[in-house]
Amino acid sequence: MAEVSLPPLPPDRLPLHVAIIMDGNGRWAKQRGLPRLEGHRRGVETVRSTVDAARAMGVRYITLYAFSAENWKRPAEEVGGLMSLLEFFLKRELNALVRDRVRLRAIGRIQELPAQVYRQLQATIDATAGFDDYHLTLALNYGSRTEILDAMKTCAQAAAKGALDPEKLDWSLLSRHLYTADLPDPDLIIRTSGESRISNFLLLQGAYAEYFFTETLWPDFTPADLHAALVAFSKRERRFGQTSEQLNPAS
Ligand code: FPP
Repeated sequence: MAEVSLPPLPPDRLPLHVAIIMDGNGRWAKQRGLPRLEGHRRGVETVRSTVDAARAMGVRYITLYAFSAENWKRPAEEVGGLMSLLEFFLKRELNALVRDRVRLRAIGRIQELPAQVYRQLQATIDATAGFDDYHLTLALNYGSRTEILDAMKTCAQAAAKGALDPEKLDWSLLSRHLYTADLPDPDLIIRTSGESRISNFLLLQGAYAEYFFTETLWPDFTPADLHAALVAFSKRERRFGQTSEQLNPAS
């Protein structure tokens, strides 16, 4: 929990939006001779501690890659276990999300999730829809390529009906058709477990994000690890295509 005394972070150097690729649950379990699902179960507790810590550290938006569009290819037992954990998490956290004024969203083809998970997800989304203090987004059945395809289909259909002028299609318009339409772009994307891949996660939205890779396996990820990522972020110079001199004319 975030009450561990970690040095305060400079508020003007905090990311507004942190996204996390939570990786390493399987290896965490294997190292202990436990079934993979045990790693995911432990991972759920890390979700809770990380969301609490991010809020306590002043991060308003947090997005977690919980189930990719490719994860359906895993053994049926693991997929079923992950879906049960998701449902369990949503039921267990509902009261705390409301208490802490956290708005839950989901990005991905969520209509393809099992019916009872979808229902629970929708109920939590609805129950928290009025909050604007903190934002937790779960990427579920998510993949950037399907997201872009879905957006392009919508735009192409609108163009075919004459409701959209293809000449007017720009990034601002396209981004309004992504699953993330009402979210700011991520400023910082963290991946745990020592892998240095993006794995089809927020490819367009992360165009100017800072990346932070840590060896820590997701079940072992602590508020101190999150704090270390935020400290690293606070020292980065984000240039968005400009030069350092343009950004700091006085120096
Ligand atoms: C990657 O670890 C993790 C996942 C595919 C699932 C992440 C899910 C959770 C943390 C729990 C459920 C989430 C919520 C929000 C309730 P891996 O299994 O690929 O690990 P490995 O690379 O070590 O095998």
